[in-house]
Amino acid sequence: MTHFYEERGEPFKRVEAIRNASLSAMLFMLTAKEQGWDTCPMIGFEADKLIEALQLEERFVPVMLITIGKEDTTSQRPRGYRKPIGEFVKYV
Ligand SMILES: Cc1cc2nc3c(=O)[nH]c(=O)nc-3n(C[C@H](O)[C@H](O)[C@H](O)COP(=O)(O)O)c2cc1C
Repeated sequence: MTHFYEERGEPFKRVEAIRNASLSAMLFMLTAKEQGWDTCPMIGFEADKLIEALQLEERFVPVMLITIGKEDTTSQRPRGYRKPIGEFVKYV
């Protein structure tokens, strides 16, 4: 497996890191919801400052932040458009 990643170079490794982190992030959000928490993914942060604050090693890629807490149900706003699942998922 190490060879599989090494021979594809740095761009592939970076994309793979983002792919894996995204799957983990989704799983974290779904698990949190199941446990009664609400979450929100965020990419609006300064990666270099995050790396500095958390003293992250160079091999780590800051993919996203996830807030976690309890939704304020007294100030809900209508959700934005969501592409209907039937448009891109097919059961055969
Ligand atoms: C990968 C990703 C990154 C996001 N980053 C931000 C962000 O930096 N700041 C922000 O206000 N909303 C961000 N959003 C949007 C919110 O997380 C959230 O999806 C949006 O407010 C809609 O909420 P809802 O999905 O519960 O309707 C991001 C969404 C995604 C999927």
